[in-house]
Amino acid sequence: MRRVIAIDGPSGAGKSTVARAIAQELGFDYLDTGALYRAIGLHLVRSGVDEDATDERVAAALGPARVEFMRGKVFLNGSDVSDEIRTPEAGHYASVFSAREPVREFLLDIQRDAALKSDLVAEGRDMTTVVFPDAFIKIYLDASAEERARRRTLELLAKGFAVDEDRIRQEIRERDERDSTRAVAPLRRADDALHIDSSGCGKEEVLRKALDIIRGRS
Ligand code: DC
Repeated sequence: MRRVIAIDGPSGAGKSTVARAIAQELGFDYLDTGALYRAIGLHLVRSGVDEDATDERVAAALGPARVEFMRGKVFLNGSDVSDEIRTPEAGHYASVFSAREPVREFLLDIQRDAALKSDLVAEGRDMTTVVFPDAFIKIYLDASAEERARRRTLELLAKGFAVDEDRIRQEIRERDERDSTRAVAPLRRADDALHIDSSGCGKEEVLRKALDIIRGRS
């Protein structure tokens, strides 16, 4: 296993932006594990699996699934689904199905294998607690629900989706609740993770804080 920088935090805290920038700055690979969960959510929906399906049904549908994250793109069964997984609906299914044990088991080795071939910046909900508990740097990146809703609204508007900020804020709160109260691998701040609150910070400032932490430890 190579060196891993693990970053966790809730939806919209800015993890992808900062993780990608750290990877570029340090020459590490970048792994967006939310993209893997989104692709698996898409696979399950396409396979006709509904939210109330049994674990056996979920596991059976996962059997033939192939998911890969390469150079910033996510591939499901050989097809690039990087755009398709970014809809609010795909985010909902990712959150719902990511609470299921067979889904987490399915993705565990895929995520760990990414750190076998190169140094890695991995971001998600359980990087610091479950997937890479021995990561040499652990960061918990957070921001207020209001600010995260504002950012997500602007992001979706820029992509051409008709969105309402109140609704997005409500969805973010529901997503936070589901991701942090589920029985398996809930989102939580690891005891040894350094906390960065990105509320009111620009991207450059968050990156500078993260790089200061990393350089202080290296
Ligand atoms: O980071 P994101 O919004 O793309 O993640 C989508 C969903 O995937 C999120 O609501 C929870 C789930 N997820 C997870 O459970 N564990 C991870 N390591 C990453 C994402």
